[in-house]
Amino acid sequence: MSAEVWILGGTGRSGRAVAAELARRGVPTVLVGRDESRLAAAAGPGGARTMVAASLDDAAAQIRRQRPEVVVNTIGPFTATAGVVADACPGHYLDLANDVAAVGATLARHDAAVAAGRTLITGAGFGVTATESVVVKLCEGRPRPLRVRVDMVPSIAMEAGVLGDALAATILDGLPGVEGGGRFQGRRIVDGRLAPARVGGDPMRLTLPDGTGVTTASMPLGELLAAQRASGARHVVAASSEVPSGGVARALMPVVLPLLNWRALREFARRRLAAVRVAAAGRPREHSWGHAVVTWADGEVREGWLRLGDAQDVTGAVPAEAAGRLLAGAGRPGAYTPAALFGAELAEACGGSYLLPVS
Ligand SMILES: NC(=O)c1ccc[n+]([C@@H]2O[C@H](COP(=O)([O-])OP(=O)(O)OC[C@H]3O[C@@H](n4cnc5c(N)ncnc54)[C@H](OP(=O)(O)O)[C@@H]3O)[C@@H](O)[C@H]2O)c1
Repeated sequence: MSAEVWILGGTGRSGRAVAAELARRGVPTVLVGRDESRLAAAAGPGGARTMVAASLDDAAAQIRRQRPEVVVNTIGPFTATAGVVADACPGHYLDLANDVAAVGATLARHDAAVAAGRTLITGAGFGVTATESVVVKLCEGRPRPLRVRVDMVPSIAMEAGVLGDALAATILDGLPGVEGGGRFQGRRIVDGRLAPARVGGDPMRLTLPDGTGVTTASMPLGELLAAQRASGARHVVAASSEVPSGGVARALMPVVLPLLNWRALREFARRRLAAVRVAAAGRPREHSWGHAVVTWADGEVREGWLRLGDAQDVTGAVPAEAAGRLLAGAGRPGAYTPAALFGAELAEACGGSYLLPVS
């Protein structure tokens, strides 16, 4: 195998962020994308090697032929791409999935990955890593808790451009094939099992450690599975500050989301959403935050925070740090989320600082 990291979707926002972090770490990198000139612009003068692959299948064929040791997949929706790419990899695989369907599907490959002696990492972006790391810290050396709630509060500077196919398709993909509810329904974990939840439900007003306030609400994120695995809790809720949680949005959500079951409407919405122009904007707040509240059966409650920088930068740093470690032989066979494999210290290596209760 060749000792390099390939980035699929190397021209995208996340692909470029991962490439910059790999370059900072001195890791040999190849940017893979569909368009030669966009690839050249993404690599910059004297930057990473580039490779044109006209489609995902073409990229998978190149992986089989050239056998890179590590592949970072940034092409969503990951429910459609993760299996194709992971199957093609002779070595280790990472992706940025952040929904229950894709994260669950990759974690379900654990036994096969162990048997093949390979490592698969899913959820290697801001949300899963920021929240599961706090849960790992709060639960260290303690018995299995009863309940966990995690909240992700990203702060992202937006670059001008269109939203793009990958992100639009991921947003509208829903949860195909996920047990415990409908495709366009939320999820929570009740008595150890996935169960229906309302998207935008369980709203909570949080005061961040910097003194500002934010409201988070439930969303079927990969964080849900990662928090359950990190804690073993029977009841888990995952929430985000990015879900519209006002009264009107809460009333509309159960009416609008089921309409997406209609394929023609979903495709129309995907095209319109992909073309939406985003204006450049600064970060809404200085830091991004991961937050968790863990409750034990005896009534003990512990709450903790992880403070990070721009969430898009974190989504570059986590896969780069993890890919570098895999290339250096620091992984172990199986399928994991980032902190489950490398511990809560991984987030610190990506610029994070914990704010935890004194125990
Ligand atoms: N876990 C997290 O915290 C986190 C954070 C950020 C993003 N994400 C996820 O990461 C994904 C990418 O987000 P992004 O913001 O980087 O999107 P983006 O800027 O639109 O980049 C997407 C990349 O994928 C490529 N691509 C799209 N469809 C493709 C296809 N069918 N075949 C081959 N290449 C294709 C694009 O190539 P072209 O240049 O050729 O179009 C582009 O390089 C999304 O699914 C998003 O949800 C996760």
